[in-house]
Amino acid sequence: MVKLTTGIILLLLITFTVVLTECVQVNLIDSNPTLQRYLLRGDSPVIGLNLDMKTLQTAIQAEIKSKTNQNVDDFYLVDISVLKVDSVVQEEAYFAMHSKEGEFIHWPLVGNPANISGLPEWLQASLVVEGQGVWNLEDQLIGRVDQLTHWVHNKTSINNLKSHHQSNIVFFIHDDNGVDQTGEISGAYYLANFGWTWSKTLLYNSLIHKKYQPMPKWNINEMNWYCFYLYFNNKGPDTCNY
Ligand SMILES: *[C@@H]1O[C@H](CO)[C@@H](O)[C@H](O)[C@H]1NC(C)=O
Ligand SMILES: *[C@@H]1O[C@H](CO)[C@@H](O)[C@H](O)[C@H]1NC(C)=O
Repeated sequence: MVKLTTGIILLLLITFTVVLTECVQVNLIDSNPTLQRYLLRGDSPVIGLNLDMKTLQTAIQAEIKSKTNQNVDDFYLVDISVLKVDSVVQEEAYFAMHSKEGEFIHWPLVGNPANISGLPEWLQASLVVEGQGVWNLEDQLIGRVDQLTHWVHNKTSINNLKSHHQSNIVFFIHDDNGVDQTGEISGAYYLANFGWTWSKTLLYNSLIHKKYQPMPKWNINEMNWYCFYLYFNNKGPDTCNY
C-alpha cells in the first residue's frame, strides 16, 4: 500500500514536472487592472517552428490571475521580441495571419560592451549626461521603458498600436530564455518605476528563471548605464555601483 501510494505520488510529480517544463514561463512585471493593461516577461513563445498561442495564452492568464486576481479570459497581445537576431519570422508571420489576436513588435537589444561602473563619478556623469546618450542610441532603453510605462498606465497611449482594442491588453516582452535581453529592459523598468536598488534588480533577474542562467555581461552593462542615467537625473537609486 505504502509502495503504491509512493508510486502514484512519484508518477504525479513526474507528470507535473513534464507539463511545467513544456510551458512558456511568464512573469508579471506591472499591471493596471483599471485600464486592463498588463506587462509580462518571459521566454520564447515559439516552440519548434510554430508560435504556440494556446500555451502562451494559458500561461499568461494563470500568471495574471495568481498575481492580480483578475480573470483575463480574452486579450489583445502585443508581442515584443527583444532578440537581437532575426529569428522572429514565425512571430511576424503569425500576427500577419491573426491580426485580431495581437501584433508583433521587434525591439532588438544588443547590450553594451563597456562597463561604466567603477569609473570616477565625474566621468560617469559626463558620459551619461553630456555624452548625449551615445550609450542609448542602439538599445534605446530611455524611450522604450517610457513607452512601456505609458502603455500600461496612460489610457490614450495605445493610439500608436495597430488595433485600439478597448478591453484587456497584454504587453509581452521576451527573448529566447527570458533572462538576457529581457532582463535588461525589465530591469530598467523596475529601476525606473519601482524604485528598486541596483543590487535588488540584479538579484531578481538572477533568480527569476527556471534555468537560472546568468545574464550576459553586455546586457547587465546596458542596464547599468540606464541606472546611471536615472541616478544623474535624480530619478533612480542612490547608487548604481556594484
Ligand atoms: C563591472 O565592473 C564592476 C567593478 O567596478 C564589477 O564589480 C562588475 O562585476 C562588472 N560588471 C560586469 C557585468 O562585468
Ligand atoms: C498619454 O498619452 C498620450 C498619447 O500618447 C499623450 O499625448 C499624453 O501626453 C499622455 N499623458 C500623460 C499624462 O503622460
